[in-house]
Amino acid sequence: MKYIDSHCHINDEHLLMDSEAVINSAKEVGVTSLIVIGWDLDSSIKAVELANAHQGVYAAIGFHPENLDEVSEEAILKIEELAKTEKKVVAIGEIGLDYHWFKEESHRNKQKEWFIRQINLANKLSLPVSIHARDASNDTYEILKAHPVKKGAVLHCYSGSVEMMKRFDGLDLYFGFDGPITFKNAVEPKECVKACRLERLLSETDSPYLAPTPFRGKTNKPEYIPHIVKQMAELRGQGEEEVAKAIAENYERLFSVEP
Ligand code: NI
Repeated sequence: MKYIDSHCHINDEHLLMDSEAVINSAKEVGVTSLIVIGWDLDSSIKAVELANAHQGVYAAIGFHPENLDEVSEEAILKIEELAKTEKKVVAIGEIGLDYHWFKEESHRNKQKEWFIRQINLANKLSLPVSIHARDASNDTYEILKAHPVKKGAVLHCYSGSVEMMKRFDGLDLYFGFDGPITFKNAVEPKECVKACRLERLLSETDSPYLAPTPFRGKTNKPEYIPHIVKQMAELRGQGEEEVAKAIAENYERLFSVEP
């Protein structure tokens, strides 16, 4: 079985020192392809470096809505340059809206501005997008409706409602699920995994965050992906192999990367 981690942060300080071992352990359990996701310029550069150093590792680059302190037009042009010159950059991300941590209107407006700016960048470069949307489903939907992504997008760590998922599905998006679908008290993410179209499902860890049960609270790693896929299969009443195969196909279709 081929496993995919479509969203991880091996470029995070908790994993970067051991990146070699982290990637090798993931490969040992069958994770054949993974995308290291940036959240600002430095972490995006690190993501590219990791991708270039390892077969089966790719990079997504961009500014996360929680990390806009150093964003500027100049920084975005550096992201553009990186995407143009580095072959292993397969997406712009993670970008989006976070209203959980940011309540002020001014910051939310700033988030919207740079979200749109980076959607435009992805469209210019013909790249898909990895989206972070937390407590911001409606505005995310409105922005994507007004600024369609040309090469597709995934709503990573999807945490909205089933109803909202159906609206996003109308925009032809993909949905990434991770650790929370294994948590006992997480009702909605489980319902979303059940309701998601098989051809729009993606597996991810978001490591080092959100480790799945039975590792909850510990440092998450891409090698835990089989626990996510197993849970997806159980929730959907499908075979693990069928689910893993569909995820690999979805991954290839969205990111133009061989699983
Ligand atoms: Ni992330």
